[in-house]
Amino acid sequence: MRALCWEGADSLAVRQVPDPELRNAHDMIVRVRRSATCGGDLPLLAGRSPFLAAGDVLGHEFLGEVAEVGPQVRRHRVGDRVVVCATVACGSCWYCRRGQHACCDNGDPAPAAAEAAWGQPTGGCYGHPRGTGGFAGSHAEYVRVPYADVGAFTVPETVSDDRAVFASEAAPAGWMGAELGEVGPGDVVAIWGAGAVGQLTAQAATLLGADRVIVIDRHPERLRMAERHTGAETLHYEQTDVTAELRERSGGRGPDVCVEAVGAADGGGRPASLAERFAGRRAGRAEDSLAVREAVHACRKGGTVFVTGTFTGFVDAFPLGAVMNKGLTLRSGRQHGQRWIPMLLERMARDELRTEHLATHRLPLDQGPAGYALFRDRADGCVRVVFTPEG
Ligand SMILES: NC(=O)c1ccc[n+]([C@@H]2O[C@H](COP(=O)([O-])OP(=O)(O)OC[C@H]3O[C@@H](n4cnc5c(N)ncnc54)[C@H](O)[C@@H]3O)[C@@H](O)[C@H]2O)c1
Ligand SMILES: [Zn+2]
Ligand SMILES: [Zn+2]
Repeated sequence: MRALCWEGADSLAVRQVPDPELRNAHDMIVRVRRSATCGGDLPLLAGRSPFLAAGDVLGHEFLGEVAEVGPQVRRHRVGDRVVVCATVACGSCWYCRRGQHACCDNGDPAPAAAEAAWGQPTGGCYGHPRGTGGFAGSHAEYVRVPYADVGAFTVPETVSDDRAVFASEAAPAGWMGAELGEVGPGDVVAIWGAGAVGQLTAQAATLLGADRVIVIDRHPERLRMAERHTGAETLHYEQTDVTAELRERSGGRGPDVCVEAVGAADGGGRPASLAERFAGRRAGRAEDSLAVREAVHACRKGGTVFVTGTFTGFVDAFPLGAVMNKGLTLRSGRQHGQRWIPMLLERMARDELRTEHLATHRLPLDQGPAGYALFRDRADGCVRVVFTPEG
């Protein structure tokens, strides 16, 4: 089959790779119809991950048709249209039973790297072929889906492919930030990052009853999209004193909930603030966390900061003093989509959750390298490229 392979830093190519095969009784094979880019791919693309080798297939947010099922698959039949959670989890371990699927004990069959880096293995994720599970990615014609009954969900007939594909990851990641950030009625919520994840966090916060939702970024077209499609207010961080403006819009206190949906992929290139200079040196070789620092700084005393953005290792200059002295709650996580996808698909079917506008570019898989260049450079208003392997 054809697949989009990482070849080296900033280099991708569409290659012929072996077709995936069923390995376990609960596996199935999905023929991919839609596979989206994600901000989490950018550090991989740039060659900043130690867990990637030439020939590895990227991609983890996808939807397709069931092509083959193992003998223990009960919920799916050949031909079903399914969206597959980007997180791989067993559904039956201690963590999965508590709805913490991204912490699954059995989602990473090659746990040595995670144990070394984080102390414990976590759930898996497609498209990280040598870390977090070692599962091949979805920018391909076919994908092997382990624990198929747990991680794949039939898409309601009325929900389009372009809407449902985001139930794989961006929508549950957005929901997680709002729900586990404990957004409630009357809250002021600030969200750093107007990518797909930040915008879907804004939609989730509104659905959970937030009074004001403010999205922060530097790309005017992303901010305009957030205003139009999520009803959020926006701030351009290069043109505004973000902390002062947030305080102004939250009764002088600061937002109740601050969600960081940026990650280490994109530091934003902003000079250090006075507080950061006070805090000490800026990030050197460690991952940058500028938006996390700003969220901690802006959050009201006693509020919650939720980090949805991806970090893999160590972060420098983290304002633990502000977290401690302001009594903040700091939470984070990879998305536990298995817990939220059925509810998100229902909301999509009821038109409460609309996501298709995020697919700003739809390209055949053969144009994968050009698609990633667009996405990386945020060129032509690109928010997400969605690849269609069938052309
Ligand atoms: N926790 C999870 O399960 C999960 C799931 C999906 C994605 N993610 C992560 O969430 C993050 C966002 O994903 P995405 O696909 O929306 O990414 P994206 O790259 O499309 O968007 C990130 C946005 O952040 C903006 N940004 C950069 N620096 C900023 C700053 N200092 N302040 C405000 N905005 C800033 C960028 O301009 C960009 O628009 C990534 O790190 C991704 O890996 C996490
Ligand atoms: Zn992702
Ligand atoms: Zn599990």
